[in-house]
Amino acid sequence: MTQPKIQLYYKNVTSAVIGEKDGISPEQLKGLSEQTKPVIAKLNQQRAAGEIPYRDLPYNKEYPAEVKKIANEIKGNCENFVVLGIGGSALGNIALQTALNPYMYNLDANQRNNNPRLFVLDNVDPCQLGSFLDYIKGNLDKTIFNVVSKSGRTSETASQFMIIRKMLIDAFGEDGHKDHIIATTDRNEGALRKIADKAGYRTLPVPDGVGGRFSVLSPVGLLSAVVCGIDIEELLAGARDMDEKVSSENFFENPAAINAAINCHYYNRKKNISVMMPYSYALKDFADWYRQLWAESLGKNVDLAGKEVHVGPTPVKALGATDQHSQIQLYREGPNDKLFTFLQVKDFGRQLEPVCPPDCTNELEYLAGKDLADLLNNEKLATEYALIYDKRPCMTVLFDKLCPRTIGAFIYLFEVTTSLAGLLLNINAYDQPAVEFGKKAASALMNKPGSEQLCEKIRPIVEIDGEFLV
Ligand code: PA5
Repeated sequence: MTQPKIQLYYKNVTSAVIGEKDGISPEQLKGLSEQTKPVIAKLNQQRAAGEIPYRDLPYNKEYPAEVKKIANEIKGNCENFVVLGIGGSALGNIALQTALNPYMYNLDANQRNNNPRLFVLDNVDPCQLGSFLDYIKGNLDKTIFNVVSKSGRTSETASQFMIIRKMLIDAFGEDGHKDHIIATTDRNEGALRKIADKAGYRTLPVPDGVGGRFSVLSPVGLLSAVVCGIDIEELLAGARDMDEKVSSENFFENPAAINAAINCHYYNRKKNISVMMPYSYALKDFADWYRQLWAESLGKNVDLAGKEVHVGPTPVKALGATDQHSQIQLYREGPNDKLFTFLQVKDFGRQLEPVCPPDCTNELEYLAGKDLADLLNNEKLATEYALIYDKRPCMTVLFDKLCPRTIGAFIYLFEVTTSLAGLLLNINAYDQPAVEFGKKAASALMNKPGSEQLCEKIRPIVEIDGEFLV
């Protein structure tokens, strides 16, 4: 049986389409293939040496079994499943849900096949969280919270968790509250691990060596997915399909290599903004997920030799057709400093056709009887044409359809693209010192013991005082 797939289409970056000045000539493409081949080999070696653990997640049998076991245990007793996490501990969960479950999932029990509603709380805005708590407090007995934090000490997640833990203890007592919490965290270390072990919560591991933004195919992303009825076996199978392609040392058969090489090529040609524009509402949160993956992995101030470099393409998300009416003016007529990656879906699996407009107008008749999917895909072609007309490079990831298999392939394609881009830019794609710096500064400002000096240093610089305030 032929499985649904995704493909990368890159003709519209070539000089044949957008001209010599902005396009990639056949010689340049050959150059890119020669430059990228050793990098593919290097990534394959790193993987074989066990240095890139996220690459093996699609083959792991233990994690899907563990998440399914927990999902079965809570079945029937859970109407609301709430993820507490931030960054890599939330974006993948949100993206999977938007991509693979219906738009009205939370509001319509039929559309969600009576699976639990899903809420992913990834901020500490008191109004947002407060409103959620007001909503959930009457339904706590049928609510399960999955607190996700690899480090176990991220202040946003920890604060949310402490508020919710207290609410649960007040409602169900020290013993009873445990049934409502599942902690996903490091196997051995961190504050959350200590709390979970002491309290006796059910736990799932964040695998060693897998950073948050590469963790969606681990228990971090798999638990909420399976609870909400997503076929995680197919998701992982899709990632394995893609693994075959992105491990190929033949550049022209390897979509991650082509994607990374083209992105880095344009970055070096001062087109350093990378716009991902899905023409599918369901994929909009994957553009968010990609933004984090790309920005945190590739935005680095030093190269692998420790030399100051300050590199990193800037990822931007846009949604077709919505943002045609907000961004395209800039994208076409503003600076030619962007590479566009469209996400296009061949088969939406749903047909909706406008009927004839009222007699008073002929102007809208051309829309009658035309499928909305056709309209959306033609909008994509029209936008691409407009951008190409103005010599803007465009690529497309083409989905046969949206299903766990193609989404798994997409996740893996962009993860490996990021690893290869990291090697091409000669930086460490797996750390995030700037994020850690911000986390430290925030805890110092919240008077974490031991960080008094840092707090004293920061406060006078950033605190808004009377001067320059108009
Ligand atoms: O990708 C990353 O490493 C980060 O975005 C983290 O996921 C984020 O900071 C949350 O960290 P933690 O899972 O440790 O709470």
